[in-house]
Amino acid sequence: MTTTTSKPAHSPKVRKLVQGLRALYVPTPSFRALDERLGELIEQRRADMTDGVTSNTRGLMLVGQSGSGKTTAIRELTRKYSGVLRTDPTQEICEYIGLQVPSPATMKHVGASTLRALGYPYSGDKQGPAIWDQVKVQLKLRGTLFLGLDGAQDLARHQTDKERQSVVNTLKSLMENSVWPTGLILSGMPDLKKIVNQDPQLARRLYPVEIGRLHGIRDVAPVLNIVQKYAARAEIEALASVRNEFFAQRLIHAADYQFGLMAEITVQAVTKALFSEGTEAKLGIQHFADVYHDRNAAIDAMNPFIAEDFARINPRLIFGDDPGAEDQ
Ligand SMILES: Nc1ncnc2c1ncn2[C@@H]1O[C@H](COP(=O)(O)OP(=O)(O)OP(=O)(O)O)[C@@H](O)[C@H]1O
Ligand SMILES: [Mg+2]
Repeated sequence: MTTTTSKPAHSPKVRKLVQGLRALYVPTPSFRALDERLGELIEQRRADMTDGVTSNTRGLMLVGQSGSGKTTAIRELTRKYSGVLRTDPTQEICEYIGLQVPSPATMKHVGASTLRALGYPYSGDKQGPAIWDQVKVQLKLRGTLFLGLDGAQDLARHQTDKERQSVVNTLKSLMENSVWPTGLILSGMPDLKKIVNQDPQLARRLYPVEIGRLHGIRDVAPVLNIVQKYAARAEIEALASVRNEFFAQRLIHAADYQFGLMAEITVQAVTKALFSEGTEAKLGIQHFADVYHDRNAAIDAMNPFIAEDFARINPRLIFGDDPGAEDQ
C-alpha cells in the first residue's frame, strides 16, 4: 500500500521545504489567549518595577490532553516573547525559566529540579522547605519573572492530601513573595485543574486557558485550511482526496481529536509526499494512510484513512502501542 520509492538522499530544496514545514506553528485561539495574557502580565510587572512596587503577581495555566499542543504552545510563546523577555538561560539575568516536572513530583524533587534549571549546583542533602527557600533566592538573583512547569498534572500524582496541599502552598508562595514574586506558567493534562481548584487562592492567581478537543463537524473547515496551508508551504498541490469533509473527519479521528496530533500527522504526510515524489509531489489521502501505518503499524482495516467505518477505530490505543510515536 505504500507509494514511496526510497531515495538515498533528498535534494537541498526538499530538505529546506521540510525544515519550513517543521518550523510552521499554526496559531490557535488558545495560543492567542496565552499571548494576550502574557503580554498583560509582562506589562504590569515592568510598570511595577519602574515604580518600585512589589505586588502579588499572576500566572497562566494551560490545560489539554496529550498531543493537544501544550509544550509546543509554551515553546512558541517564549520564542515570541524573546525580544521583550530575557529568556536565555546561559545569561545571568533570565526572566523565563522552564522545566519539566520530575517524577516522582515530591516537594523535594520539584524544588531540586527547579534549582538545577536555575543553574544552581544543588547538593542534595536539604529538605523540601530549605530547597524552596533556595529556589526563591535564586529566582530573585536571576531576575526570573516567570517559572514554567510543564507536565504539572504530575504534581498531584501519588501524593497524600497533606503533601498535595504543601505543593499548592509552595506554588502560591512564589507568586505572593513580597521580595520577588514570580509568576507561574503551569501546563499539563486536565488533572491539573483538580490541583488548582483545590485552592481558590491559587486558582484566582492563574488565568486558565484550555486547548479543547477538535470537533468532527465544526472543525472540518479549519482543518482543511491547515492541510492546504502546509501543502502551500511545501509548494505542492493538494489533491481533491484531501480537500473534502470526509477526509477532514478521518484526519480528526486519526488524531484522536487533538489539534497538535492533527498538525503533526499533516506535517508527516506532506514530508512523505516530498521525500517520495520530490517537488512535483501531489498531496493525497494515501500519504496520510501511509503515515498512519508508519506510526501505528495498523492494517488497512484499522487505518482511519482507509477503513470505511473509521469511527470505531481507537487511534489512542494504537498510538499507545507504538514506541515510535512522537508524543512527547
Ligand atoms: N499550533 C501548532 N502548530 C503546529 N504543530 C503543532 C501545534 N501544536 C502542536 N503541534 C505539534 O503537535 C505535536 C504534539 O504537541 P505537544 O508535544 O506540544 O503536545 P502536548 O500537549 O505537550 O502533549 P503531552 O501532554 O503528551 O506532552 C508536536 O509534534 C507539535 O509539533
Ligand atoms: Mg508536552
